[in-house]
Amino acid sequence: MTAALSGDAGRQAPSDTPRADAGAAVHAVVGGDVEVTLVDERSVRYVDLDAAASTAAFPEVAAAVAEFLPWYASVHRGAGSKSRYATTAYERAREAMLRFAGRDVGGDDVAIICRNTTEAINHLAYRLALDPGDVVVTTVVEHHANLLPWGRVATRRYVECDSRGTFGLDELRAALRQDPHPRLLAVTGASNVTGWLPPIDEIIAVAHEEGVPVLVDAAQLAPHRRLPPEADFVAWSGHKMYAPFGAGALVGPRSAFATGDPFLAGGGAVDLVDLDEVVWTDPPEREEAGSPNVVGAVALHAAIDVLEGIGWDVVAAHEEHLARRLAAGLASVPGVRLLGPAKTSSPGDVDAGARHGVPTLATVSFVVEGIHHALVAARLGAEWGLGVRHGCFCAHPYLFRLLGLDRSEIETYRDEVRRGDHRNIPGAVRASASAATSDADVDRLVDAVAELAGGAPSPVAYHQDRATGDFWPESAVPGWSAGDRTIGASCARG
Ligand SMILES: Cc1ncc(COP(=O)(O)O)c(C=O)c1O
Repeated sequence: MTAALSGDAGRQAPSDTPRADAGAAVHAVVGGDVEVTLVDERSVRYVDLDAAASTAAFPEVAAAVAEFLPWYASVHRGAGSKSRYATTAYERAREAMLRFAGRDVGGDDVAIICRNTTEAINHLAYRLALDPGDVVVTTVVEHHANLLPWGRVATRRYVECDSRGTFGLDELRAALRQDPHPRLLAVTGASNVTGWLPPIDEIIAVAHEEGVPVLVDAAQLAPHRRLPPEADFVAWSGHKMYAPFGAGALVGPRSAFATGDPFLAGGGAVDLVDLDEVVWTDPPEREEAGSPNVVGAVALHAAIDVLEGIGWDVVAAHEEHLARRLAAGLASVPGVRLLGPAKTSSPGDVDAGARHGVPTLATVSFVVEGIHHALVAARLGAEWGLGVRHGCFCAHPYLFRLLGLDRSEIETYRDEVRRGDHRNIPGAVRASASAATSDADVDRLVDAVAELAGGAPSPVAYHQDRATGDFWPESAVPGWSAGDRTIGASCARG
């Protein structure tokens, strides 16, 4: 037990990890070499270009979880050795999250361990105890997770974007200066649609100059760049940063959680309970009623250690390289239009992204003229073994703007969706890379999109489902038969 207790074994990036070799992945993930069967029965290595949705685990994360499992026990609820061990592991993970967010352990901030970014933002929206007339400034660039929770508890004031999907500090400042004075700025650290990296440090500085605290939705930022230490609140998810074990974090000042009712009421959040009275305990435990996800916390701790071991400069250099290759490669395909800062107006505009000088993650959303986004994604999966996402990426207002839809078009789609018909829902295809992505992976996507956009015939017919909008190949090949189809929410719903 001592060795396991004291050790962070398995959490360091191995010394032979490739570091600065442009073109190679900077780190492996579990399952990075898995082969899948295509509709024509060939087997190919699966290329996961859907990191913005979820990432596979780092091997060190899987190892840390395996190492921890024999010691698994209740956290904060047991006197036995394993409970003490599990509690130590959990609290160490909390400290790692604080440091990851640029905070001092033992300082004024707390890390609340929760399920994911969505829960973290809902948690904060509840805890700020806003009145319906209070204003939260947010932007049209946001994921629904950073829009909907604020609409339930306050009045939202939006910063609009331009046709490239970006906004400037002047527009932000104007929104912050309007009356009534905002209680919060809730802004993304990186777009899950275009990969745009708003100048988050400057944004926070402007908000602070205007006397407005800031929540940064760091779901997309956390795996790719250092978190902004000046943000008042930061929320992120483990499953998007190579730790898919169900934990995420909300970091913010202890004072914000020191009074009032916690978001969840129950065991672990209290000092004393009588039948008609409760004495809540101090944060962060006050905010974590119920048995916590210690495995998820251990996994997130391990992922933090690996990312910091690789180094943000290496991570960023790799992803900037991939971002250029992805945007330029896709932009060079006739019939492909990129959305966002890397947007191109003409085929062959291979200097996309770099041309505009707007920093982005290696995340690109695009449309193939004349082919439904859901069909493009289905064909890339079934015929090329490529994993991408399609639809509106849980950012409908942003997508509508990027696609240039007018009100009447949106009304038409809304009527169809209300009738349960998702076939015509507008959208795009998104490719997003990770630390495990190589040039060869990007090139495989670009080649496949070029074939598809060039009119390559499908080996099978595809049928679109009315309720989900997804396409499914007509095939008897194992994995692709009608019986293999899992019915559920689809990409387009988001
Ligand atoms: C920018 C952004 N914010 C919030 C979320 C929500 O994250 P989660 O699903 O982990 O709660 C996502 C997920 O895609 C995201 O991309």
